[in-house]
Amino acid sequence: MEITALSNSSSIDHSVIVTFIAEQGLSQGNQSLPAELSTMLKAAVERKQVSSKLGKSATLVSGEHTLIVVGAGEDAKRDLGAFDKAIAAAASALEAVEAKTATAVIDTLTIENKSAAQLAERAATEFAKATYRYTETKTDAKPAHIESLAIIGDEASVAKGAAIAQGINLTRRLGDLPGNIATPSYLANQAEALASEFSHINTKVIDEKELETMGAAAFISVSKGSTEPGKLIAMEYLGGNDGDAPYVFVGKGITFDSGGISIKPGQGMDEMKYDMGGAASVFGLMQAVALLKPNVNVIGVVAAAENMPAGNASKPGDVVTSLSGKTIEILNTDAEGRLVLCDALTWAINEYKPNTILDIATLTGACMMALGNVNSGLMTENDELAEAIIASGKTTNDRFWRLPLEKEYQELIDSPFADMQNIGGRLAGATTAACFLARFTDGQRWAHLDIAGTAWQSTPKGGSGRPVAALVDFLLSDSSK
Ligand code: BES
Ligand code: MN
Ligand code: ZN
Repeated sequence: MEITALSNSSSIDHSVIVTFIAEQGLSQGNQSLPAELSTMLKAAVERKQVSSKLGKSATLVSGEHTLIVVGAGEDAKRDLGAFDKAIAAAASALEAVEAKTATAVIDTLTIENKSAAQLAERAATEFAKATYRYTETKTDAKPAHIESLAIIGDEASVAKGAAIAQGINLTRRLGDLPGNIATPSYLANQAEALASEFSHINTKVIDEKELETMGAAAFISVSKGSTEPGKLIAMEYLGGNDGDAPYVFVGKGITFDSGGISIKPGQGMDEMKYDMGGAASVFGLMQAVALLKPNVNVIGVVAAAENMPAGNASKPGDVVTSLSGKTIEILNTDAEGRLVLCDALTWAINEYKPNTILDIATLTGACMMALGNVNSGLMTENDELAEAIIASGKTTNDRFWRLPLEKEYQELIDSPFADMQNIGGRLAGATTAACFLARFTDGQRWAHLDIAGTAWQSTPKGGSGRPVAALVDFLLSDSSK
């Protein structure tokens, strides 16, 4: 779908118009409709044909005009979640009338302390998210009817919102694809496709052989048990000054996590196809960056591998030497994310000398148990960085909750046979995973984002596209400080 901006309602030329009505009744904003529709709306309000209850919608038809009126709830209670709910209701009402083109008048949908431009951006994002359909492996799947939507509001903001949604929807699609399609090789092709679509993106793919020669044995210890070859993928966007240290985003890309020899129970194992949610969010971020072209250097790194049991798979007790030279005792082959990530982090730090490095990973069930699906986990020793990420989470409603990462937890992963072991036991599981990664990011401006609980939603099943919105906001605001 194409989303455009219209500077004011006088130029509305579509026959389907969406507007919002708040519990306070008709407002100045509602009067900005073309005269005929404004009269129609007034009459409908008097006859109680429309409801201002958040998310309720009514479709009024007069001649060739269709007016969709969506309840926006109370002005004072409207937060980002309520705003999104109103837009989602508008999108489904549009779909119900099978509208191909429409105009959205959103000026009654206000939020305290948010500018009209910020809300136009968010409306564009939310409308575009509502048109996402998983179509790849369903023979009867159809795209949404809407082909073009005009939003009355600031042009640059609407374009930005639409670009962010393209990133989010790419992330959702990659998460939804089954493990037999979205393999590490598929992800490598995806990165190459991005580079051929955008001349300002370059892609590097390092295959399993090169990784082995390089000495990335922690990465290989995971990928070697699968017949799908692992890939380390880098997407480079150099929009900043020559030589400016880049922002680097490293995503866990386990395209299926069976647990390996420490195999997982069967119940719900299908959902482990989204164990590449961190990688998917890096793709979504890079897609948005390619469209937004910010003046900053950005590198997206994806550690893509499949975790399978096999005759040559890693066994509990095996010891490997990571790319950094540090040795790791693999006590549980299901703690594989940190094994691929430690080598990806080491490689990215050596290769790019980052200004800031974030990793994004569906890393632990413990984080999901602690935070559910509302907040992603955030672990860093850098308070200033934590604050910046938390602020972006609040701005985008794609939130983070900080969990501890203190040196006292480090002893939980000391090993009698290696420099460290890959699990810490029952206590503080999200933190011990972060402690492991911290041993490979010494001296860096680094944060770890655990999205195990937030990258996927179980009802209805599907990728959420998180935390792309927060990553884009963090990148843009932090790099312009
Ligand atoms: N991919 C999982 C974590 C996960 C669990 C993500 C549920 C999404 C939903 C990860 O590789 C894993 O298996 N972690 C183990 C670590 C344990 C063996 C220390 C876990 O959390 O149980
Ligand atoms: Mn695992
Ligand atoms: Zn995993």
